[in-house]
Amino acid sequence: MNKFLSVGITGTGSCLPEKKLTNFDLEKMVDTTDEWIRTRTGISERRIADNKTATSDLATEAAKIAIDDAGLLLEDIDLIIVATATPDMAFPSTACIVQKNIGAKNAVAFDIEAACSGFLYALAIGEQFIKTGVYRNVLIIGAETLSKITNWKDRRTCVLFGDGAGAAVLQQVEGGLGILSSSLGSDGFRGDYLTQPAGGSRMPASIKTILNDLHYIHMDGREVFKFAVRAMSKSALEIIKDVGYNIEDVDYMIPHQANIRIIEAVAKKINLTMDKVYVNLNDYGNMSVASIPVALDEAVKKGSVKAGDIIILVAFGGGLTWGSSVIKWCK
Ligand code: ACO
Repeated sequence: MNKFLSVGITGTGSCLPEKKLTNFDLEKMVDTTDEWIRTRTGISERRIADNKTATSDLATEAAKIAIDDAGLLLEDIDLIIVATATPDMAFPSTACIVQKNIGAKNAVAFDIEAACSGFLYALAIGEQFIKTGVYRNVLIIGAETLSKITNWKDRRTCVLFGDGAGAAVLQQVEGGLGILSSSLGSDGFRGDYLTQPAGGSRMPASIKTILNDLHYIHMDGREVFKFAVRAMSKSALEIIKDVGYNIEDVDYMIPHQANIRIIEAVAKKINLTMDKVYVNLNDYGNMSVASIPVALDEAVKKGSVKAGDIIILVAFGGGLTWGSSVIKWCK
């Protein structure tokens, strides 16, 4: 008999800033067109946080909705993990700020950083604590305000990103349901493809770093694209095999929403038809670590994902990192 407990997602929530930035707005800011952005990325608009809104503000709202959805009280939360590449500040952690905001006085709180794969890293970490009986109620959040580190004069990157937060509550569920398997991967040797060079201990903030635009996202788009297709399709195929399923058994895939061409290429490689793939990046752009939990929350609340469905979550991100999870949905 398996000595570990089964763990599932029992509540979800999300929060998106109100302000929309359309491709037509971007046409007035940089040398680009709505047509180029839509055909090359699949994005029409994205949400942008205002000057007063930090990552923890979006995370807090998403968290409250997820906790309520799980039918828990705030004091029931044992652990809060926030995955983000855009924390409010270096310390305190964004998770500790969320703990204070929601009043989860019994929780342990910490951040993790795995760029766009972070939500799946948080899911795998949270799962370990519940399946081994250490904690009962874990809140995981993927939250990002990439607009704050986007160079709004660089057309190669500024058309891609959006802000948002998604949260999920993890709890013990009936055996055979919930997370069937999770798999994570990292390749630090190719970390240079995606960086925010300055602002840390390697290159502290200075007039020079600011003048050289080193606090913004720097990316080799073509290399990231190739890596994304390879890593996500390999990870998805391996994890399906690991749980003893075939691709036909999968009801839904919720991939990281970076580029529609990446998503379509992955679906093709793993032989999954696009009607089984959840896509919302037309409306929100690439929200990095928030993209999967926001898409999951939408898919569940729209009824696209139902109890008993087999879903795959799959992501790639800076680091480089990747990850996937197979879940038998139990709510
Ligand atoms: N508008 C108009 N033209 C543009 C734009 C734009 N917004 N951006 C680039 N171009 C131009 C380029 O300058 C280039 O012109 P050139 O041939 O004269 O030099 C041409 O379009 C083609 O550029 P490519 O880079 O080859 O375009 P590609 O088809 O590869 O699309 C993109 C670029 C969308 C960035 C793609 O490579 C991609 O999606 N890569 C993955 C990005 C990603 O997912 N990153 C994850 C980031 S997550 C994170 O940062 C936390």
